[in-house]
Amino acid sequence: MCGIVGYIGYREAYPIIIKGLQRLEYRGYDSAGIALYDGENIKLSKTKGKVVDLQKRSKEEITLNGHLGIGHTRWATHGVPNDLNSHPHYSNSEELVIIHNGIIENYASLKKELQSKGYVFKSDTDTEVLINLIEYVQKNENVKLGKAVRLALTQVVGAYAIAVFDKKKPNEIIAARMGSPLAIGVGEDRKEFFIASDASPFIEYTNNAIYLEDGEIAVIRIGKKIKLRKIADDTLIVPFIQELELNLEQIEKGGYDHFMLKEIYEQPNAITDTYRGRMLVNEGIIRMAGIDNHLERFLNADRIIIVACGTSWHAGLVAEYVFESLVRIPVEVEYASEFRYRNPVISSKDVVIAISQSGETADTRAAIQLAKQNGAFVFGVCNVVGSTISRESDAGAYTHAGPEIGVASTKAFTTQITVLTLMALKLAKAKGSISNEEYHLHLQELELIPAKVAEALASDENIKAIAAIYKDSPNFLYLGRGFNFPVALEGALKLKEISYIHAEGYPAAEMKHGPIALIDEKMPIVVIATKKGHYEKVVSNIEEIRARKGKIIAVVTKGDVDVREIADHVIEVPDTLELLSPLLTTIPLQLLSYHIAVMRKCNVDQPRNLAKSVTVE
Ligand code: F6R
Repeated sequence: MCGIVGYIGYREAYPIIIKGLQRLEYRGYDSAGIALYDGENIKLSKTKGKVVDLQKRSKEEITLNGHLGIGHTRWATHGVPNDLNSHPHYSNSEELVIIHNGIIENYASLKKELQSKGYVFKSDTDTEVLINLIEYVQKNENVKLGKAVRLALTQVVGAYAIAVFDKKKPNEIIAARMGSPLAIGVGEDRKEFFIASDASPFIEYTNNAIYLEDGEIAVIRIGKKIKLRKIADDTLIVPFIQELELNLEQIEKGGYDHFMLKEIYEQPNAITDTYRGRMLVNEGIIRMAGIDNHLERFLNADRIIIVACGTSWHAGLVAEYVFESLVRIPVEVEYASEFRYRNPVISSKDVVIAISQSGETADTRAAIQLAKQNGAFVFGVCNVVGSTISRESDAGAYTHAGPEIGVASTKAFTTQITVLTLMALKLAKAKGSISNEEYHLHLQELELIPAKVAEALASDENIKAIAAIYKDSPNFLYLGRGFNFPVALEGALKLKEISYIHAEGYPAAEMKHGPIALIDEKMPIVVIATKKGHYEKVVSNIEEIRARKGKIIAVVTKGDVDVREIADHVIEVPDTLELLSPLLTTIPLQLLSYHIAVMRKCNVDQPRNLAKSVTVE
């Protein structure tokens, strides 16, 4: 939800900020803006639209030189996307300027108070209220900018990652965080600093970064050590400089037309990276420190509660089937957004698994807090290393999928399932709920999954041809059973979010309780009908669809002949254990939605109204 970038140092700030904003566009892309200090004045340019629109506009309306600057790419919360509501925002004197990712919940009352003191507002944003509050405090209390920002933030309720500078003090930027991520890149000999929502905007300049924690404010000055303080009580904190593992290649498209396609094709490697070093097949060992250190907590748990949103929630649903069948512990899967508000019964004997690619999702974070307050043990499954959820959990496991930049989640989903399956196998072994033979079989089969995913990817041309036939259908149904019911939900979500076609996922047997009424000769129905698990029942469901003339696109096990006879189209995936089949059946559904979206000329990597990291409620 909004990306922010700032630079102060000896280089030209403009190209660094523009490139950084492009890398952060996955976080929001309805408007963009930049403010530069040219040695005398602040020059500000902003526009509705994307960073390319900002590039065009800024070249026309401002000079682009300056060694200090801040930029923003927006996902609108308060105020429609338009030029005025875009960031950066000036204070009334136009001496201060701010970029902000988050929501100031009490902005309306603060705005009224400032209006009563003569402040005027040009935009509908909460951010303009914050910068004027900072200015008011600075002038009223006669304090330095850092202190003014800190004091203003003590009056604010909500979430923020902000960067502010003052044209009278052009050697410093103030950055602060509560709820929204913020990283500071520290250049050699502190001759330059970078501020960004994640490290991608500065990875080619430095791999030293400080990740601010919630409630921290940083005063960043050229040539000086960063001063880090607690917003609430001004205590000084010693900054921890972390060495980054990210590299440039990981965040570029590498010859693919879209990040989403690159990430779909990265899955064989991503899944291998997920189990590499953890799963020792020959020795029959799964190493996961997060589980080893808390084994008793897991084994004595009354139940496991999985909290997540969107695609991660679908991975949680797959995990429910996997954990219950292997570990025999009751599992509940909850939308984090519902869980946090419905006063759920949680006890200290519960284990809560929070799943999140970004590790920043606001609802999932709130669910974790609630679980912790009630004494539950929280285990985080995240992709982004060092993310808030990974730090706020009691223990956890990373998916190691590498950066996922396409807004539609793909490799995050399959690697989440891989980690959760490893966890379940490890716990089942420790509990004795799986036989030795079964355990070894699962390990051996999991090791073969990356090659089988690569084989599933080879159906791409067939899938593209199917996409061409159905690209204009207004509706799709997705059906699956057992382990593949969540895959049907995920397939429908992928299609909806990137092609804007309405799609529903259902357990195949539920079809006759309602959705069957939708079926006619125009309705494409994607059915997951792999050999293992309810095959005959799903075949009967296909017959029922056929009798109503629905168009059947079936995902089948390689070599299947029966479904081929009754379906309009088949897409083959290699055979595997039923429990691991979601890792393969997901692949064609990702490719189908990708090709349909491309054929419909949709912006695959940045679908309308969405953002990659949902740091607001
Ligand atoms: C769908 C998608 C979203 C995310 C959801 C949770 O393709 O990407 O539904 O899965 O916003 O995000 P994380 O996993 O970052 O918590």
